[in-house]
Amino acid sequence: MIELISVIGAGAMGNGISHAFAQHGFKVNLIDISRAQLESALNLISKNLERQLSKNIITEEIKKATLKNITILTSLQNGVKDADLVVEAATENIDLKLKIFKQIDEATPPNCILATNTSSISITKIASVTLRPQQVIGMHFMNPVPVMKLVEVINGYRTAKNVTTEIIEISKKLEKIPCVVNDYPGFIANRILMPMINEAIYSLYEGVAGVEEIDTVMKLGMAHPMGPLQLADFIGLDVCLSIQQVLFDGFKNPKYTPCPLLAEMVTAGQFGVKSGKGFYSYTAGSKELQVAEKFKKD
Ligand SMILES: NC(=O)c1ccc[n+]([C@@H]2O[C@H](COP(=O)([O-])OP(=O)(O)OC[C@H]3O[C@@H](n4cnc5c(N)ncnc54)[C@H](O)[C@@H]3O)[C@@H](O)[C@H]2O)c1
Repeated sequence: MIELISVIGAGAMGNGISHAFAQHGFKVNLIDISRAQLESALNLISKNLERQLSKNIITEEIKKATLKNITILTSLQNGVKDADLVVEAATENIDLKLKIFKQIDEATPPNCILATNTSSISITKIASVTLRPQQVIGMHFMNPVPVMKLVEVINGYRTAKNVTTEIIEISKKLEKIPCVVNDYPGFIANRILMPMINEAIYSLYEGVAGVEEIDTVMKLGMAHPMGPLQLADFIGLDVCLSIQQVLFDGFKNPKYTPCPLLAEMVTAGQFGVKSGKGFYSYTAGSKELQVAEKFKKD
């Protein structure tokens, strides 16, 4: 039975994943190399719980119990040694993820399931550095985690059926809707989303239309809640480029070539919301920044 979840990485996703598990009664060990990051994640969870309380989504008791369920740690070994499930949500970097999976394979109990929240890295590749590839699986939450319903469950080549079933069941306990897919570059979410974003950037690059026009066409014409260029700014242009590169490298098909404008913006340090500038500017007090803040909260 899964009772203790260790979440590795206390960034945008790790704090949301910890929040969702703890709110649904699971004990969570939240682990990061940075104590400051852990403290700010805990602060953010507390603020988000406060907002849920003010909207009557949760009770005061659930808020208190959620916070009590979360322990923060900087030691990976101590944080995972009793885990039933690890959800790794550290920085999207293949070498880092392979290193972490080797460490957690050695430090966790033999029955523990090892899941990764990677957006694009091969589950089979990550599993290959462990001695339990049948217990390694993708558990891809969407941002912001407490709000978004989907969990993309990704089977690696050797993932065992009972492991997939456990992850489906636990996703349902979080009131999420799991969707099982196989391990190919970008899985489903990013295989479809990222080429659309890349194509929007090509449209801008080739001068077909301006930023506002491209986003307006997709919002009003396709009923998307936000345009692809704004969404790219929210995801992070560095993240978009690295996922598009994974598609290009994985399929060896030129249709996935990252747009040169995207690569150029990343080289120039324009990553979107997190750097203050992307396709839009996110200066203090600007309408764009307010939308971005609201997106993080809702
Ligand atoms: N941001 C999104 O919208 C989104 C959506 C779905 C999936 N993902 C995936 O989730 C993962 C995390 O993304 P994020 O946006 O939260 O990243 P982030 O940069 O906000 O946070 C990553 C965290 O990992 C920590 N970290 C780095 N090395 C570590 C280590 N060795 N041990 C413990 N912690 C370590 C960092 O200190 C940082 O706090 C990535 O794999 C990403 O692809 C992101």
